[in-house]
Amino acid sequence: MDNKGKVETLLAQAGHYLDKQTGAVVPPIQPSTTFARDEQGDLYDGNRIYARDQSVNTEMAEAVLNEMESGAACKLFASGMAAATALVQTLRPGDRLVVPTVMYWSLRAWMITFCEDWGIELAFYDPADEANMDAAVKAAPTQMLWVETPANPTWEVVDIARAAELAHSVGAQLVVDATVSTPLLTQPITLGADFVFHSATKYINGHSDVVAGALITAKEDERWSKACSIRAQLGGILGPFESGLLLRGMRTMHVRVERACENALALAQHFEGAPGVKAVIYPGLASHPQHDIAARQMTGGFGGMLSIRFEGGVERTAKIIGQLKHFVRATSLGGVESLVEHRALIEGPDSPVPDDLLRLSIGLENVTDLIEDLEQAIQAASEAS
Ligand SMILES: Cc1ncc(COP(=O)(O)O)c(C=O)c1O
Repeated sequence: MDNKGKVETLLAQAGHYLDKQTGAVVPPIQPSTTFARDEQGDLYDGNRIYARDQSVNTEMAEAVLNEMESGAACKLFASGMAAATALVQTLRPGDRLVVPTVMYWSLRAWMITFCEDWGIELAFYDPADEANMDAAVKAAPTQMLWVETPANPTWEVVDIARAAELAHSVGAQLVVDATVSTPLLTQPITLGADFVFHSATKYINGHSDVVAGALITAKEDERWSKACSIRAQLGGILGPFESGLLLRGMRTMHVRVERACENALALAQHFEGAPGVKAVIYPGLASHPQHDIAARQMTGGFGGMLSIRFEGGVERTAKIIGQLKHFVRATSLGGVESLVEHRALIEGPDSPVPDDLLRLSIGLENVTDLIEDLEQAIQAASEAS
């Protein structure tokens, strides 16, 4: 979809929902686990049989996401991990998967074990180095290239159109984890990606009260039908109640994402070069190494995620996070409330994340409150040391 006005109308009206019988503007939740047949044995709507793979509310939310992403089809899963792992499980023994060194930590950990167990070659590339990515993809026959952009939690930005060309030049397919860029700021399929993946737990739902995942495909090919079968057979579909909540969250997605982007940019600009701050990592800053790619690829904002590295190492960083009053010390991202996390300590000793880095998910609070909160925490940590 190339018309922002249309996206906003689509979202605000929950996919243009209106119940012609009652005039209701909010879709009801349909919890039935089974769907009846008529006297001739035909299904009432010719489509749904059983709720392990079919749900009225899930389909409503899928239709909206699919339209936003200009996809051929969309499936919602019970979590982001359920969606991502369904796609990776379509690979066969002997296939090769190329993934970034910087990506969502739990997915990376799962991929390492899964690929080892199932005889799939797993190769890594540095998402900040295009030549390194080229070399990794071309080193051996590759079936799937995985991109996460911006990449959690150091926000490297990958040129999706370039990655698509690279993948296709060797007969591979490109998957883009666009959780942080949201379906509003980047549409990977229009840039050449074969599959888009979202942890819908984040910005798509936006209220920290639903765990969900989404896959959107550019075409309904063999890999897509395999991923759909995995959802159907393993029962990883999103439930009707969660789907209803997800669609409700999506009705304000454009307003939430716009405000999160504005707040994040203001915060990043304020703290870049501030005393005690070693670096601010945010794709919207001119100092970001891939700012030019982000400016081209992310339309309407640079997202609500940023990281700050502090002078004084892990100890001072731990003091700063402990002093915050408005930021909530919790994992996850993309909700209305601002969250902060000391990622290296959460991920443990094998974490590649610098231990002086705090990851911030910027919410919809008053940005002056957020700036003042971080300022007082930096000040208090300086006084304590
Ligand atoms: C970028 C990214 N991808 C995937 C996931 C996994 O999604 P979920 O937690 O919904 O299973 C997350 C979760 O934090 C994430 O941040």
